[in-house]
Amino acid sequence: MLRLGVNIDHVATIRNARGTPWPDPLRAARIAQEAGADGITAHLREDRRHISDADIDALMEHLTLPLNLEMAATPEMQRIALRHRPHAVCLVPEKREERTTEGGLDVAGNENFLGDFIAPLREAGCRVSLFIGHEARQIEASARIGAAVVELHTGAYCDLDTEGRFDERDAELAGLAEGARLADDLGLEVHAGHGLTFDTVGPIAALPQVKELNIGHFLIAESVFTGLGEAIGEMRRRMNEARQ
Ligand code: PXP
Repeated sequence: MLRLGVNIDHVATIRNARGTPWPDPLRAARIAQEAGADGITAHLREDRRHISDADIDALMEHLTLPLNLEMAATPEMQRIALRHRPHAVCLVPEKREERTTEGGLDVAGNENFLGDFIAPLREAGCRVSLFIGHEARQIEASARIGAAVVELHTGAYCDLDTEGRFDERDAELAGLAEGARLADDLGLEVHAGHGLTFDTVGPIAALPQVKELNIGHFLIAESVFTGLGEAIGEMRRRMNEARQ
């Protein structure tokens, strides 16, 4: 079955807007679990703009679902990951001035560095995932350095859909499908995520090689109107429908 990882970063964004203890990301994680999430994803950014170190402490202590810790490939983040040993570590490129993770990691251009960076994480038992675009050279480099998982960046596909640029969206979708096939052939587990909504999730969920989707911003946005459990339930329903 296709797994759903719920990204709870933006529960922390709302909390941090006021500096209150609420809404609590751990409470969101528990509701996500009840609503059928298979895992929780949290991105500890270098500037701590949403998830905090204390959030990661609390999630590691109390969460019974697997935690996928998203982070940049920096020495500080590596130390934090090695201290917590979460189920999975997803490496993402990070720029301070960006609003969200804008592109994929350049694994092909940093093969030696990233190979060395992930070695201790693998030894510590973390499943290492690399957030990349669907280009063959990035996928091949990910396999060469020994990553277990690649998460394919669906942001461009989603943006093109929102902008009504449907021919370009379909070309991007074809690229993602090809990337998923190549990654699977190379023995990588394939995940996908970024920007997914009720309207865009279907064609990605339908890619047979994709084992997990990580979805955050849209679910938290939708939960303002319907509640988080309901939003997750509807996303699950659409994922399952697309998969059949
Ligand atoms: N996957 C990765 C690697 C991400 O960096 C993000 C955003 O933090 C997501 C998935 C989820 O994206 P969104 O919040 O747009 O659903």
